[in-house]
Amino acid sequence: MNILILGSGGREHALAWKLSKSSRPLKLFTAPGNPGTAMLGVNLPVDPLDFTAVRSAILEHKIGMVVVGPEAPLVEGITDYIEADPELASVVVIGPGSNGAMLEGSKDFAKGFMKRHGIPTAAYETFTSETIEDAVHFMTTLTPPYVLKADGLAAGKGVLIISDPDEAVSELKAMLGGRFGKAGSKVVIEQYLAGIEMSAFILTDGISYRLLPEAKDYKRIGEGDTGKNTGGMGAVSPVPFATPEFMGKVEDKVIRPTVEGLRAEGIEYRGFIFFGLMNVGGEPYVIEYNARLGDPESEVILPRIESDLYDLLEGVARRDIESRTLVTSPDSAATVMMVSGGYPDAYNKGFEITGLDSVRDSIVFHAGTGESGGRIVTSGGRVLSVTSRGETLEEALEKSYRTISGIGFEGVNYRKDIGFDLKKIKR
Ligand code: AMP
Ligand code: GLY
Repeated sequence: MNILILGSGGREHALAWKLSKSSRPLKLFTAPGNPGTAMLGVNLPVDPLDFTAVRSAILEHKIGMVVVGPEAPLVEGITDYIEADPELASVVVIGPGSNGAMLEGSKDFAKGFMKRHGIPTAAYETFTSETIEDAVHFMTTLTPPYVLKADGLAAGKGVLIISDPDEAVSELKAMLGGRFGKAGSKVVIEQYLAGIEMSAFILTDGISYRLLPEAKDYKRIGEGDTGKNTGGMGAVSPVPFATPEFMGKVEDKVIRPTVEGLRAEGIEYRGFIFFGLMNVGGEPYVIEYNARLGDPESEVILPRIESDLYDLLEGVARRDIESRTLVTSPDSAATVMMVSGGYPDAYNKGFEITGLDSVRDSIVFHAGTGESGGRIVTSGGRVLSVTSRGETLEEALEKSYRTISGIGFEGVNYRKDIGFDLKKIKR
């Protein structure tokens, strides 16, 4: 089976790494990939948003399965595009059509979906530039801080949490006035939920599902969860407060109603669903859905899966995931992102990365790396995701930090406190 992974980050390297361990004879292609995926298969210089180029690559390389990493091609309809093409009739896509991807692509759709299916989430209403006065009135019914969310994809920047009512109103006006372009033409305003966040993940064939290991990521650039939001500075799995009791509630109140709700609405969803959850006094609430795996969550989830990932993906393709087993290792996994100095603001690229050859105790997933003159150089904000496993979270973290001390590039930055809030929580 020839498999094409779309994307170029640490998540896609982790997917390729996990698939490379399959007992089946798989040939891996990644588009566009990075130097990490190039070690496991063939990188193709194809932009995942250029659907005609993806189509040509599928035909040229006799691809039988496409695994879509990032959200943008899903929301843009890559799955529908492939499935509608008679020449690609035998190709299986892991990732929903644009209707299922609306769970991520439209906050208003996601909130409406949760309301229709009784899935716990924060109280909300949606507003447009025509209903600003109603929005201001709705805010008076909420207790601050106010949570404002641009409806569409905004590269992780579309959510604002503001305590001051006047500032919230002026930010709302700026959003509806076009700050996020089309993504902000509708704005969801919702109740703030105080609790502790974590994420759950499933792989579904649209009928049933398998629960993947859960994870917690660290989004802020600064230690102690301070400073600007990033794509993610690190992640851990398992999450100590995701007890069997809590995860039972997540399955009963969130996951099953989501899979059944998609089915009831005639949305054939085949792929991953990422549930961003808030644990509010032991009860799960959905903060957001993503129609894909997370990054850097994938870099801790996939290393904890003991089963053959291809077997599970085949279960999605054949709609018999119910008959496939997913065994999760009891070990802990932690990943720490090494980022470019300046990220998430402006940063320089092209610095040589040293020490990669001497890594022993960790798996280094490439994210923003490139190749120049036979050397591996930095080419993005998030550069490397350094994952380790251990019997405990502490052991996994210690290994990652030890590995990091042997890797270098100019301006390197990383958080030294990944997992800081969890270390004292016993499972
Ligand atoms: P999202 O892009 O929807 O994941 O939101 C970004 C971040 O904003 C989340 O990871 C949460 O930390 C925070 N957030 C979103 N919605 C809420 C809410 N209703 N209450 C508290 N925090 C929230
Ligand atoms: N790390 C968050 C995400 O992938 O959306």
